[in-house]
Amino acid sequence: MAIFEWSDRFSVKVREIDEQHEELVGMINRLHEAMVANKGRELQQEIVNEMVAYTNFHFATEEKYMRSFGFAGYFEHKREHEQFAAEAAELKARVDRGGLVLTLEVMTLLKEWLQNHILGTDMQYSHLFNANGLV
Ligand code: FEO
Repeated sequence: MAIFEWSDRFSVKVREIDEQHEELVGMINRLHEAMVANKGRELQQEIVNEMVAYTNFHFATEEKYMRSFGFAGYFEHKREHEQFAAEAAELKARVDRGGLVLTLEVMTLLKEWLQNHILGTDMQYSHLFNANGLV
């Protein structure tokens, strides 16, 4: 069973952003499956690298729209992105060094961060993005 089940409650009502979030959810699930199946460090490393790169791409997409539409919570939102990006980079470095085989604890932290961020932070721009024609 997937560690993160996508559902409509995570939708920010912007197709492009929802698709990016679903991609990230898929990566978390693949990483979890690789961990459960004990697939080894190389595959975990590959997925972590992909996830870190895609996360940065996704954050840049949201930040571009927030700046374009003059979103009032831009800096606070960006700070959350930066904190997570720093933690993800640290995770990647630990996997690259071979010092960390992913654990359920790490997977749960990733999942919970994304769930809480989408529901608590990303949702805040939903109306503004819609009002500016992004649907
Ligand atoms: Fe979807 Fe603010 O990250």
